[in-house]
Amino acid sequence: MEFFEIVGGNRLKGPIEIGGAKNSALPIMAASILVEGETILRNVPDLADVRQMQTLLSKLGVKTFRDDSGAMHLRVEDEMNTHAEYELVSKMRASVCVMGPLVAKRRRAQVSMPGGCAIGDRPIDLHLRGLEALGVEWELVNGDVVQRAKKLTGTDIFLGGPFGSSVTATANVMMAATLAQGRTVIESAACEPELTDLANFLNACGAQITGHGTPQIVIEGVAKLHGCEHRVIADRIEAGTFMIAAAITNGDLELQGARIEHMHAVVDRLRRVGVLIERAEKGVTVSTSRRLEPVQVTTQPYPGFPTDLQAQMMALLSLADGNSMITEKIFPDRFLHVGELNRMGALLRKEGPTVIIEGVKRLIGAPVMASDLRASAALIIAGLVAKGTTRVHRAYHIDRGYERIEEKLAKVGANIRRVSE
Ligand code: UD1
Repeated sequence: MEFFEIVGGNRLKGPIEIGGAKNSALPIMAASILVEGETILRNVPDLADVRQMQTLLSKLGVKTFRDDSGAMHLRVEDEMNTHAEYELVSKMRASVCVMGPLVAKRRRAQVSMPGGCAIGDRPIDLHLRGLEALGVEWELVNGDVVQRAKKLTGTDIFLGGPFGSSVTATANVMMAATLAQGRTVIESAACEPELTDLANFLNACGAQITGHGTPQIVIEGVAKLHGCEHRVIADRIEAGTFMIAAAITNGDLELQGARIEHMHAVVDRLRRVGVLIERAEKGVTVSTSRRLEPVQVTTQPYPGFPTDLQAQMMALLSLADGNSMITEKIFPDRFLHVGELNRMGALLRKEGPTVIIEGVKRLIGAPVMASDLRASAALIIAGLVAKGTTRVHRAYHIDRGYERIEEKLAKVGANIRRVSE
């Protein structure tokens, strides 16, 4: 087991390169199942989740490797196995993204039903509803969703759920519909930039998708998709995490490659807190030199404030000059970091899906336990400014979604190291 040891108090200063988006790379990798010929992906981050997807794809007959330049090559070599097993799906929810491509291309998919996780129940009813509308039949067998389809036919599909649209359900239906007969219209589609990236990739492979990035996506089915080269967009969640790290340490960072146009809600909230954020030639600069103002934050589907930055924002607001409030509207149970931040001296009080944050003067280093990917990032951010030493246990959570985070932070002045127990 590894943990991060952080001695707080250093200002972060300098350039950080933002990697490719995990949430783009994973569904795009899954989409290679649909493609005849070779897919070449650039800017795929080197993350535990990406390696996990490579393992799953190799079991499903897709050969993947990285060339000397780091580009990932993917090619379908065998279409016999259509079973995504519990072992892999339970480790990574994004495994569910193979469902649409498998059933569209191979007419059969058996995907273990993903269970709950540290951020709450995460149902897949919208994925199933959408695929069913295209003509897929399914049943639950021993915890696996077993799907069959004689042919897929385009239709109108409403993908709205109790918490709005679903990102990976939109991805699954969009991917499957590329090979359906006729036109599919997805209403209440998710609008995340990662879905636009997926649609751009599919179109480069010969798909006919329009409206991506809006709540209505129209897909004209085509007979087949061919290989292409594609560059994955920059990770707006990694960029947002480093923006918050700059803000909390009174720092001055240049986030190279970050795309401010994907981050309006985050930039808006941070500017209200008093953080200076500017476009720069190579990306975005972030600095702060004054006290932190308290703000209210509500997580929402894109273009609202992302749930994947809620925990990190909470760490920052713990030190604001006054009371803030964060309401979680996507995953109302995503608050396991609250108790851990309180162990570091924060004053957080949870009331249903809302956390009231009473700003304190300082945080104090402590041993804390990471519970999920983004909560771990919040604890590292708190450790960067806390007095004394913080140990963030279960480093493996962070490795799922951040590439060499301790190296990137150390390069800009943080006192952080990875330790093996
Ligand atoms: C994706 C992101 C994840 C992010 C989340 C919300 C990927 C690989 N992961 O996850 O990082 O935190 O979006 O922005 O892109 N829901 C249903 N029924 C369904 C599916 C979802 O009710 O069939 C609900 C969920 O419980 C949740 C909400 O819809 O309340 C949004 O979840 P969803 O967009 O599906 O999240 P993911 O796609 O799993």
